[in-house]
Amino acid sequence: MRYKTLFFGLSCIIFAYYIYIPIPENIEEHWKVRIIDALMKVSSLMGTLFENMGIMKFEDFFFILMELQNTKPVSDENITVIDTDFSGIPVRLYLPKKKSDRQRPAVIYIHGGAFCFGSRKMLPFDFLNRLTANKLDAVVIAPDYRLAPQYPFPAALEDCVFVVKFLLQDKVIEKYGVDPSRICISGDSSGGTLAAAVTQLLQDDLEYINKIKAQALLYPGLQGIDTMMPSYQEYEHGPFLSRKVAIKVTCLYLAKDEELSKAILRNEYMPEGSRHLFKFVNWSDFLPAKYKKIHVYKEPVLGKLNASYPTLMDSRVSPLLATDSQLQRLPLTYILTCEHDILRDDGLIYVTRLRNAGVPVTHDHIEDGIHGAMAFATAPMYLNLGLRLIDKYISWLEQNL
Ligand SMILES: *[C@@H]1O[C@H](CO)[C@@H](O)[C@H](O)[C@H]1NC(C)=O
Ligand SMILES: *[C@@H]1O[C@H](CO)[C@@H](O)[C@H](O)[C@H]1NC(C)=O
Ligand SMILES: *[C@@H]1O[C@H](CO)[C@@H](O)[C@H](O)[C@H]1NC(C)=O
Repeated sequence: MRYKTLFFGLSCIIFAYYIYIPIPENIEEHWKVRIIDALMKVSSLMGTLFENMGIMKFEDFFFILMELQNTKPVSDENITVIDTDFSGIPVRLYLPKKKSDRQRPAVIYIHGGAFCFGSRKMLPFDFLNRLTANKLDAVVIAPDYRLAPQYPFPAALEDCVFVVKFLLQDKVIEKYGVDPSRICISGDSSGGTLAAAVTQLLQDDLEYINKIKAQALLYPGLQGIDTMMPSYQEYEHGPFLSRKVAIKVTCLYLAKDEELSKAILRNEYMPEGSRHLFKFVNWSDFLPAKYKKIHVYKEPVLGKLNASYPTLMDSRVSPLLATDSQLQRLPLTYILTCEHDILRDDGLIYVTRLRNAGVPVTHDHIEDGIHGAMAFATAPMYLNLGLRLIDKYISWLEQNL
């Protein structure tokens, strides 16, 4: 009990300190973003403290914070919402109630959370998926894939691939009245990584080729081989997502090794013999001049780690590592990037590479956007920025799916 009071008091003091950290000037909802950023910083500090004191792991602390936002499946006047499973993988389904004489489009929505946290049940995702089902008269399928660190790569990806393949079966398509020519795979943040990887894999699979009409990637992470791109440097400390926290957590998906995450922080972790991969993510070649600013391309230092991690060189972890001929086959794509986001350049580079490969891409860049904004569109923050992002994504689906 005394500890709880102590921690609470301490959090308040630290919060009061963090709340005065300056945030980018073009952000409209100044105070809300300050609060979000400060809460994230306090939580990170608390998580680190708990971990060092041996109370709980950093990631377990965040897991609990996220779990507090879970909702029950509640149907409304327009949509039937049910929690069920696709052959063992939990999914939440959003099924429009209105009778329709034609088949409906379907969206598979893969939630974000750094591969370690989050659930389809979280209020912001439930809100987004319900709205999508409503506005598009679409069936929305939101899977809960296995999470790291308990289930590292490729568990999450395997589950997502499984869910898409399960949906694509004739009897399932028929059961839910889905139009097999109007299926989109969407995801935000690490969910965007998974959505991009699933789309690439299915497009390379003879049995599933051309079965996905579109992919929508919302502030996605698309590579893990260069963590010193301009956006990673400019937004190193947030707002909201810091480079340090992002690396600490996503690393758990790649390998259980503290040395690895330290080496990633220094950008000295890729193995000898991986230099040929950097041409796929070389921001000096792919970023529009506007974003390069004064940054000078510096080659990452290779071969500093003794252990070898094949996952680092895998395009299923870093979809940007796909070759141009692999990219050529990809379907219609929507990419949303936020300016104030370490992952900005991942998205920007994918836009350029996909366009170079001839893939039709719609790109929305949100000049005052921050990473994870959609997760704050609902209670208690009601961040208008989040609603604007959601609106852009859903409008694109309405026009393109
Ligand atoms: C149900 O759909 C109608 C018509 O589109 C809309 O006005 C209403 O807000 C929807 N209800 C909910 C709970 O979303
Ligand atoms: C990255 O691009 C720059 C500019 O085109 C080039 O000078 C450099 O050699 C490239 N580095 C790698 C590792 O591809
Ligand atoms: C890597 O291996 C070399 C030689 O085997 C050794 O000297 C060095 O200490 C090792 N580095 C780490 C970080 O383990």
